[in-house]
Amino acid sequence: MIDIHSHLIPTVDDGSETEEISLNMAKGLYEQGVTDVICTPHFTNGYKAEYEEITKLAEKLKADLKEAGVPLNIYLGREIFVTKLTKQQLKEYDRKFTLNGSEYVLIEFDLVNQSEIAETVYEIANMGYIPIVAHIERYEYCTLDEAIEVKEMGGMIQVNADSIAGISKKLHHKMVKKLFKNGLVDFVASDLHDGRDIVMQDAYKIVKRKFGEETAEEVFYKNAKKILKG
Ligand SMILES: [Fe+2]
Repeated sequence: MIDIHSHLIPTVDDGSETEEISLNMAKGLYEQGVTDVICTPHFTNGYKAEYEEITKLAEKLKADLKEAGVPLNIYLGREIFVTKLTKQQLKEYDRKFTLNGSEYVLIEFDLVNQSEIAETVYEIANMGYIPIVAHIERYEYCTLDEAIEVKEMGGMIQVNADSIAGISKKLHHKMVKKLFKNGLVDFVASDLHDGRDIVMQDAYKIVKRKFGEETAEEVFYKNAKKILKG
């Protein structure tokens, strides 16, 4: 499996406080069948670590994994919290802001206050990027119609593994089911933070059982593979 959304880089956001914790989180992902992971530290008002710092910490994590004998491949990206400044920041940071230096950009929105998700996707897609809406099932104001609109506007949709495994809110679980039934899910990712259960394997089995192996392969591997190719 390829995991496109995780908070494995230590100290730069709320994902992990130490290098040791990060190493254990990474090992956990590998044990679940993840071979490649994109580390996507938050970019919000509170978390704005520079690309250079994140790159340095990622290199250290890679070295620690090598020493521990864990062949998990590490890539870099960001999870960008959308504000009025996002488009300007994207112009400035360009490929330092994208997933593995590709044209794919992972964006997140306010969980509670209604945000213009589809409109933002349209604007960012118009700049030449492929916006991926992070854990769309967690925005409870986002309707199925808006998710359809996201796809029509050139965006892609990521859902969290724990919403599939049913250990997050029931409402999120229900929305994920609806998204799958309508063929709208492009990626399943861990969105891993320290202290959260890693359920990639469980989620894979559930998707395979309910929606077929082809769908499971697409959302856990094939679509993400395109991002790694750059
Ligand atoms: Fe996240």
